[in-house]
Order: sequence, then structure tokens, then C-alpha cells
Amino acid sequence: MTQTPIKVTNQRYRLGYHLMPASGWMNDPNGFSYFKGYYHLFYQYYPYASEWGPMHWGHARSKDLIHWETLPVALKPTRPQDGCFSGSAVVYQDKLWLIYTGHHVLDAEKDINRQDQNLAYSTDGIHFEKYAGNPIIAHAPEEESSADFRDPKVWQEDDHFKMVVGSRDQAGLGRVLLYDSQDLKHWEYEGTVSGAKSVDEEGFMWECPDFFRLNGQDVLLTSPQGIKATKEQFLNQHNTGYFVGQYSTADKQLERGSFTELDNGHDLYATQTLVAPDGRRVMVAWMNAWDSPMTEKTDGWCGAITLPRELTIKNNRLYQHPVAEALSLREAEVINQEVAEPLNCSLSRHTEVKLDLNGLPTGTILKLADKNNAGFSIEADQDGRHLILTRNSDPENKRYAVLDATDEKLSLRIFIDSSSAEIFVNDGEVVFTERIYWQDKPVLSLNGTTGHLQAFELSSQTNSYKQVKEMIDYE
Ligand code: FRU
Repeated sequence: MTQTPIKVTNQRYRLGYHLMPASGWMNDPNGFSYFKGYYHLFYQYYPYASEWGPMHWGHARSKDLIHWETLPVALKPTRPQDGCFSGSAVVYQDKLWLIYTGHHVLDAEKDINRQDQNLAYSTDGIHFEKYAGNPIIAHAPEEESSADFRDPKVWQEDDHFKMVVGSRDQAGLGRVLLYDSQDLKHWEYEGTVSGAKSVDEEGFMWECPDFFRLNGQDVLLTSPQGIKATKEQFLNQHNTGYFVGQYSTADKQLERGSFTELDNGHDLYATQTLVAPDGRRVMVAWMNAWDSPMTEKTDGWCGAITLPRELTIKNNRLYQHPVAEALSLREAEVINQEVAEPLNCSLSRHTEVKLDLNGLPTGTILKLADKNNAGFSIEADQDGRHLILTRNSDPENKRYAVLDATDEKLSLRIFIDSSSAEIFVNDGEVVFTERIYWQDKPVLSLNGTTGHLQAFELSSQTNSYKQVKEMIDYE
């Protein structure tokens, strides 16, 4: 059977400096790693339609986390109906190893599937070979669902490898399983990370877990399916969040606080982190959620990856800062002024806005909208620490965030791209990630706030895309 990759038919929403597929569908970032001088980023990919389909691993690499070059598809399913689902990568014995979930469709009509864990490797970071001994973990443990056993995240700890895998137990609760290996090929099940289990409606399946130590604390980052919405939190269909706590390796117990939403916007899911050569913990995520409108589908492509963000912890919160390398996107300073009067300024669709306000104002903080009213506004009420984001395309479906009680000022750093906006509040304490389908130049309106405003025109051609040209032959 042969298939032809879909083509992009309209450039209007193609992003200027975010990674997206050359054409076709993209979801979760996978295998984020650093190997032989390049950052590597893989992603869930379906080249033949702008819809989710049997998953491949798309691949891009970069020297600076900002300029990405697409490479040939790294993995494709052996049987066309199956899938290479999400996973991670480690460098070991001079090779780049991918650890991914094999998704096996047993009965498509009845939706019966089975998942196992697999390995692939490369010496040049471009061509990948599936390991002949696959699967490396053939079955979910007995008490777990064999259909929901996926998204292995592997890291090296001394001379061992550790793996966390997302799971759903037989009672229908999400949790995280732990494995140990000395060679990446043979894995021993060590049980569940206790404490890393759904309670109080924290979801039925924990996708894309990631477990790491940061600033003296242990962080479990995960994307639970089915977490219950509260009045102002977890308002997407599925949401990404984290626990901060202390993990004891002796009894595999994570003493943790409550589950906190990672990003308060409409469009972020399925994170993946790496440790950069200089020790920074850097995170990327899918810049969509499963219930996003995905307007670009009609143009032959769908999906994007967020700006890489450095993670730190302060007051038990995960802070997200655009990586320092993002400063290299700045091409020209277009605004630098004190704000004392109402103001409207027209910006390009590739702009970084920095707004440092005096104190914690209330009321409408800013509006960004083009002449067709694509855009959003941010308001604050109560003591200025309660933020409300309204997207003009669906104004009833608002998003909310609460600033720390110790915050005395409001600062915003906004990265606008052709079909997105990432809004970093107070140095990354709160982030709203949004797909905004700009039709025209966004106009920034400030009315009643005072402070300092800067804006930078950003580069809009940071990535090089190679269309998957070849038709893929399934034997
Ligand atoms: C998360 C997810 C993963 C899975 C992948 C399939 O968005 O559902 O759990 O591996 O997407 O594409």
C-alpha cells in the first residue's frame, strides 16, 4: 500500500518561529534530547492528512532551540493501522535511543487496542533502526489496562536507567508506573510511584508523565485524561499539570501537594523536558489541546510546538521562562516608551511585547486584536491578582489564573506568532498559551494602565521544512 503526503494549500497561519509539521498532522513532542551537538525534537506525526492518524515520529534538530531543521521521518508503524506513540530519548554508548510506545490495533471496529514499549537507535541522529528484540516491555502489569500503557519517559540515574510510564489501573484511575534497567533492553517493573495515583477525580489515564528533581524538589509533570474541571481550572478537555513534592527512593513514595495546572490557556498539552548541556531543565509542549478548534486543518497541516521554556520552582510553583536563546529572535526594537495615556499601536504578527505595569492594576489590562477582531484581552479583578483571559473567537469560554499573594506588580511578556500568542505573566509564574488565528496586524490597546512598554519585531523564518516527498511503502 502506498500513500502520498498531504500538501499545505494556504500559508496564512504558518508559524514564523514555532516548530510545526512541514504538512500533515502533529501532536505531542517526543524524544527531546541533545546528541552530538544538536537538540533533537521528535513529534507525533501523520504525514497523509491534517487529522490524527496512525502515528509516525516526525523529527527536527536545532543547534540553539530556536532554528529547527526538519529531518526524515524517524519512525513509522510496521503495520499501517498501528502507531508509534509518544516516548522519549536518551544518549547511551554513543547512540541516540528512542523509547516509544507500540500501539497495536487488535479490532478497529470494537476499538480494542494493546500497547507495549519499544526501542530504536541511531548513530548519526538521522537514520533510526528499530531494535530487533522489540518489544522491550511486552505487557502492562496485570493490575493495569493493556490498552492504556504508554508514553515512556526514560532518564539515566548513575549507572541505571529509570522509566516512568503512564497508565490506567483496572479500577479506571490514572497512575504512574516505574521501571529500572541497566542496558535499556531489559526492564524490571518496580511498581507504581505511590502518591502518583489519581485521587479526587484527578483523571482516568495519566498521559505523558515526566519525573525529575528541580531546585531541591521532585516534580511529576503529567497530562491526565478526564480530570474534573473546577469553576476556573482544568477547563480544557484534557489538561497538563504537575505535583511538587519530595520523593523517597527507598519506599517509592511521592509526598505531594495537589495537582496544579501548568498553563492556564486553551492550547497546551503533553509536555516533554530535557536537561540541556548547561544543566537547564527545558520544556516543550504541543501548542494545542484535543478540543482546540485547529483552524489550520483546512490548509493541509495541523499542530505546533510551544517555544522552549526553562523551568524553575519558586513558592512550590513551576515557573516557565522562554529560553534565553529566544532573545535571538529579536530583529528590531519597535517600541520603547513610558505609558501614561491610552494608546493603540499596530504590530506585526511576529512580535514580542513587554509590558511592566506600575503595581497590580484592575480592570482591562490590555487588548490585542486585528481589524477582523481575532485576538484576546486580559482583565484583572479583586486585588489585581485574579486574571481573566478572553479570546475574541469564543468570549464565553474564558481562562483564569491567580497570582501569588506576595506579587506586588504585574508584568507581561507576550510572544505573538502568525497563529499563536504565549503570554508569560510575572516572569513565568503564570502562562496562557493560545492559538490565535491573526488575519491581519494585531493592534495593542492600553487604556488606563501606566508603566513601561517595549516591543520587538521577531524573525519569522527560523525553521526550514522539508516536505516528506517520498511515498511510504508498507510491505
Ligand atoms: C497524548 C497522547 C499520548 C499518545 C499520543 C498518541 O496527546 O494521547 O498519550 O502516546 O498522544 O498520538
